[in-house]
Amino acid sequence: MIKGDTKVYSLYGSPVAHSFSPVIFNTTFEKLSLNRAYLPFEVSRENLKQAVEAARTLGFDGFNVTMPHKTAILEILDRLDKNAEEIGAVNTVAKTKSGLVGYNTDGEGAIRALRSYGFQPNNKRIIVLGAGGAAQALVHCLSSENNTVRILNRTLDKARQVADNTTGPGRVSYEELAKSSLEKGMEDSDLLVNTTPIPTSTLVSQLKIPFNNVKDTGWIFDLAYDQPPKPIPLGRGTISPLEMLVHQAALSYQIWLNQRAPFDLMRSSLVDYLGKDWR
Ligand SMILES: NC(=O)c1ccc[n+]([C@@H]2O[C@H](COP(=O)([O-])OP(=O)(O)OC[C@H]3O[C@@H](n4cnc5c(N)ncnc54)[C@H](OP(=O)(O)O)[C@@H]3O)[C@@H](O)[C@H]2O)c1
Repeated sequence: MIKGDTKVYSLYGSPVAHSFSPVIFNTTFEKLSLNRAYLPFEVSRENLKQAVEAARTLGFDGFNVTMPHKTAILEILDRLDKNAEEIGAVNTVAKTKSGLVGYNTDGEGAIRALRSYGFQPNNKRIIVLGAGGAAQALVHCLSSENNTVRILNRTLDKARQVADNTTGPGRVSYEELAKSSLEKGMEDSDLLVNTTPIPTSTLVSQLKIPFNNVKDTGWIFDLAYDQPPKPIPLGRGTISPLEMLVHQAALSYQIWLNQRAPFDLMRSSLVDYLGKDWR
């Protein structure tokens, strides 16, 4: 129950209506009898600064930011943790004595999700579609683990920026997202991480790539979960975006509450809400 002294966390993004983060956090808080609540807010690009000021004024203990705010928020915060600074994107903000501090749990959340499926993300050939906030975090972590990463993005300049800002030992290259680059990338890679909001199966159809040319590719990891992918079997297997969602949420919990997150409880909160496991 929300009371006068409930500590509040929030989610800022656009869109946010599809987000399962409120389910994960509120169910977990309730089950652990923690006097805390997590509220989603639809925040447009123009309103991000005011929304962050509102979090300060209203004393939120922390908040998550999602699409499209993960890079725009950098200059609004008081301080960045080293990892978020290196990545150049933030998805978790904590209130501290020295102001609002930005963290990034997307990259580590994705790595944990991959490992939980038995995929060891080191020394592999990996295609990353998209070059936004999530891609920045993923490419940074994958390159740190010595993977060879090729970024394919609609806007070439953004892909270049992500590649140029990555400092890990793994080789990072980039190309425009097009029929030939995606087809070739899917043939040659161990894993495709799709950080665009469009499911990989839809991109393959939109780019008129013959399904037979790409069906036997590496693992497919779509990050977006708001559009159900077309049920066509692509690749060696699929990594669920929901596995990553719970891992990155657990890492945010750890930052906010300064204690180990109840991962199994957070995961089962979402499984119970959905009525079925995603694996
Ligand atoms: N499962 C999870 O835990 C998790 C965690 C983080 C993010 N996500 C999801 O990942 C997605 C990306 O998040 P983000 O924060 O990185 O967003 P973002 O910063 O807005 O970046 C989105 C990227 O997708 C590309 N894109 C957008 N629409 C496209 C289209 N129609 N065709 C091709 N490319 C397109 C953009 O290309 P341009 O550069 O050309 O604009 C951009 O590079 C969102 O759906 C988000 O919900 C999921």
